[in-house]
Amino acid sequence: MSAQPFRLVRLDAEHGRKRFHSGSTQLDRYLREQVSQDIRRRVAACFVAVTNEQRVAGYYTLASASVELSDLPEATAKKLPRCPSVPAVRMGRLAVDRDFKGVGLGGALLADALRRSAQAEIAAHALIVDAKDETAADFYGHHGLIVLPSSALRLFLPLATVAGLMSAGTSR
Ligand SMILES: CC(C)(COP(=O)(O)OP(=O)(O)OC[C@H]1O[C@@H](n2cnc3c(N)ncnc32)[C@H](O)[C@@H]1OP(=O)(O)O)[C@@H](O)C(=O)NCCC(=O)NCCS
Repeated sequence: MSAQPFRLVRLDAEHGRKRFHSGSTQLDRYLREQVSQDIRRRVAACFVAVTNEQRVAGYYTLASASVELSDLPEATAKKLPRCPSVPAVRMGRLAVDRDFKGVGLGGALLADALRRSAQAEIAAHALIVDAKDETAADFYGHHGLIVLPSSALRLFLPLATVAGLMSAGTSR
């Protein structure tokens, strides 16, 4: 556990990721072996929390996506245009290194993803996540994301809600 300050930036070649160990082999291997290729192909963007020594303490990925209106809660879908789907941002992966768990970094990375998505110039209605298991879904639920009726492991948050919270925060 560590309470040192982190910088939240886009992943680059200088960032040390060989030692990254989140407890999920799949998420660790993705960061070490796959993410750079996905970035080059523009199928994912990756943002990291790095220590002063440039070590990756946590990361998440974002990509554009769409969500079917029929998958959204009825009350949300009712307020949207009558088309089959709406644009969204998908947070495909989120992981924190075991040395840095429990100090708020996972929450900070999620907040950073929501802020970037809400501030993006290209419109997206919501951030969506596919939790890898129930524990991960509980983490997202704890932070206010809403479970989609279509799947207990798929959650979303309207980005208008995030933008509203951000402007309430700045006008205080
Ligand atoms: C899930 C994960 C990202 C959480 O990161 P973390 O840095 O340890 O979490 P934080 O310290 O930011 O926790 C922030 C808050 O979430 C809560 N929280 C953490 N894990 C939680 C869980 N599984 N269920 C409910 N709440 C949880 C904490 O209690 C804390 O609450 P508080 O702010 O009210 O005190 C991390 O455990 C991880 O990398 N897990 C393995 C990969 C994974 O499951 N990724 C999920 C995406 S599929």
